[in-house]
Amino acid sequence: MRGIASPVGVLARTHAPVAKAGLNLPRDGKFLISSPRFWHVEARMSLNSRSNFSIGAFDLQGYLAQRTAAVDRALHSLLPPANAKPATIHKAMRYSIFAGGKRLRPALCLAAAEACGGDIEQAMPLACALECIHTYSLIHDDLPAMDNDDLRRGKPTNHKVFGEGIAILAGDGLLTEAFAIAARCEGWPRYPHREIIRELAEAAGSRQLIAGQVADLEGEGRKLSAAQLKYIHERKTSALLCCSVRLGGMSANASAAQLRALTQFGYHVGLAFQIIDDILDVTQTSEQLGKTAGKDTAAEKATYPSIVGLEKSRAIAARLTRRAFRALDFFKGRAAALGALAEYLLKRDK
Ligand code: IPE
Ligand code: IPE
Ligand code: MG
Ligand code: MG
Ligand code: MG
Repeated sequence: MRGIASPVGVLARTHAPVAKAGLNLPRDGKFLISSPRFWHVEARMSLNSRSNFSIGAFDLQGYLAQRTAAVDRALHSLLPPANAKPATIHKAMRYSIFAGGKRLRPALCLAAAEACGGDIEQAMPLACALECIHTYSLIHDDLPAMDNDDLRRGKPTNHKVFGEGIAILAGDGLLTEAFAIAARCEGWPRYPHREIIRELAEAAGSRQLIAGQVADLEGEGRKLSAAQLKYIHERKTSALLCCSVRLGGMSANASAAQLRALTQFGYHVGLAFQIIDDILDVTQTSEQLGKTAGKDTAAEKATYPSIVGLEKSRAIAARLTRRAFRALDFFKGRAAALGALAEYLLKRDK
């Protein structure tokens, strides 16, 4: 079987079980940035052109509010109580997790489960585990030794409130707790328990999320190529977002074809997400973002706006979102929530 240049193609070439190979992402770092016709067509094309997918009049605000409330309830019951000893660490873990994040990874996980005909209760422990890992990554990302930020989710960062030592441990606590929470899932016929845990560990691990954070730090003050920046974004951000939809699909015992479509969707949405994050850093205020604006420029981070400019960055994010939309054609009418989320992630202002 010949491979194609996509996450799906990697699977096709290796014949590896789908559940094992999902984070083998394409390596062609120039596939968007160097496309000569790209800048011109982008401005003219609507988001979902060349796709039969339509989100219709989906109430995303209501959907997100409902999902956020359900995820928050589950997190409250799954995490150790604030007064569990030692209270400091459990207060610190809860401080960041309930500080008001957008809950996008859980929302994507639950929406992917629904798109595959699953039940959100089955996916809920995985959705909560994803949010714990994401929140740990933010606590550590904000530390003085990393991005040195004082503000997160509209509040002082964890280390500003609890001190650096406890903040490091609160991150460790959330990361570890994520696996205890995910372990509540017993697995599904196509996706045994060990595959679920490994999927999560690989996305969060030193070849994906942590690899991206390493490259992000090592890239400070250096002029990176677009391909190098894409390497960072694939790992520090897209890996966990892609994992979110894949785990949702797995919790619905998704077919191999459904999981491939979710992988395509999650990978492209994940890349668009970080480009928009980079754009917002230079276009919004700290008050609006709930985190310090302008930090990427101050820290001389490599970002899409710094490499290709704001206009082209927006165009690339739109192009990636359109690719994500195309992957949803496969789900016919069942992926309205995923489509609405992808559109919101592109158009968001925080
Ligand atoms: C911020 O993620 C960190 C990135 C990966 C860019 P979010 O924008 O999802 O942060 P919260 O969860 O809403 O705070
Ligand atoms: C953070 O990227 C990615 C992870 C935490 C894994 P950023 O450093 O750009 O995120 P913000 O802008 O601080 O939220
Ligand atoms: Mg960072
Ligand atoms: Mg940061
Ligand atoms: Mg950022």
